[in-house]
Amino acid sequence: MRAVDAILIALVAAGAGLGVGLVGLLVAWLTRRWSIRWQLTLVATVAVLTVFGGVLAIAWLMFLSGHDLQVITVVTSIAVVVAILVALTIGSAVVRWSGAVQLQVREMAHGGHREPSESGPRELRALSVELAETQRRLEEAGAREARLEESRRELISWVAHDLRTPLAGLRAMAEALEDGIAADPHRYHTRIRTEVERLARLVDDLFELSRIQAGALTLAQEPVLLGDLVSEAIAGADPVARERQVHLGGQVEAGLEITADPASLSRVVANLLMNAIRHTPADGTVEVHCRPAPGDVRSVDLSVSDGCGGLDPGDMERVFDLGWQGSAARTPAAPEGTHGADSQGAGFGLAIVKGLVEAHRGMVWVENLPAATGCRFHVRLPA
Ligand SMILES: Nc1ncnc2c1ncn2[C@@H]1O[C@H](COP(=O)(O)OP(=O)(O)O)[C@@H](O)[C@H]1O
Ligand SMILES: [Mg+2]
Repeated sequence: MRAVDAILIALVAAGAGLGVGLVGLLVAWLTRRWSIRWQLTLVATVAVLTVFGGVLAIAWLMFLSGHDLQVITVVTSIAVVVAILVALTIGSAVVRWSGAVQLQVREMAHGGHREPSESGPRELRALSVELAETQRRLEEAGAREARLEESRRELISWVAHDLRTPLAGLRAMAEALEDGIAADPHRYHTRIRTEVERLARLVDDLFELSRIQAGALTLAQEPVLLGDLVSEAIAGADPVARERQVHLGGQVEAGLEITADPASLSRVVANLLMNAIRHTPADGTVEVHCRPAPGDVRSVDLSVSDGCGGLDPGDMERVFDLGWQGSAARTPAAPEGTHGADSQGAGFGLAIVKGLVEAHRGMVWVENLPAATGCRFHVRLPA
């Protein structure tokens, strides 16, 4: 074949191919909303017809004999049928695979669960895995939401309970005083004051919590010497510890300083100390330690350990939940003669600790001490 002929054939074939291709694109655009089955069929058909269009054009240029053209026409017709069949088969499979993903989405919408599809092309499988992952995250979020809702409901009933019991006591004592039937009016007055203080603390805690939860907490950050802060907290807790015969001790590394809101931080340490003292039996020890965080010199680790005998692993996740107080019955009225700050709270103490620490971009967690002697609460704060 002469070079000129070869070039001419290539040009004519390209022109015919372009023509068929453009028509194919136009049809594809017109049928773009049809099933992918038809798009695939179209691609296969266009491929075969491009060949045939080229052949026809070349036959028209008289490079092919009439006999050759007939042969090619028969072969091409069969090729078109085969191409269409293959395309329809693959198309049906794709339709089936995407149907499976669709089903997965539908079940997801109804809260059902379906393993990611293992068949189908890589993109569809990836989509299916992504969907399963999204569903898992949605389920987690749903469970968290339900837990929050549940604890909010519990909280309201607990607060109502925690208010009702002391209020009933206050009313009874006030009535006894009013009627002059109180045997020991002084004792009644003291108890009334203790109860009122406890209620005021409860309301303060609630107020603090709502500010933390609303993100309305304004931290007055300034350099704080942890040695001083811990000493003050220990001095504040000392009367309670003495009364309960709990030894208070600890160690703060000299010169340890962080930027924090001193009032909030004092409250964190005081809450942890009060809890530790309350859960430690007489003659036990409560210790506060403060040191640079191991492995991260830009954070400090403040810990309070007690002799509570260890927490149940299941409880360790819940102690920071709002209103959670373990299996113990809800707050009894403060026992007579207890120091005000010592009486049991309403399960808000650790939730406040957590909220304040997190507002400082810190973390708080609890671990059990070896041999189930007690537990240790850790506060990690950026310096
Ligand atoms: N140091 C501790 N040792 C053992 N258990 C603790 C300690 N601190 C807290 N807890 C448990 O976590 C619960 C929640 O504590 P908290 O939020 O301070 O509420 P409250 O002190 O009002 O009960 C407590 O009721 C107790 O069961
Ligand atoms: Mg407490």
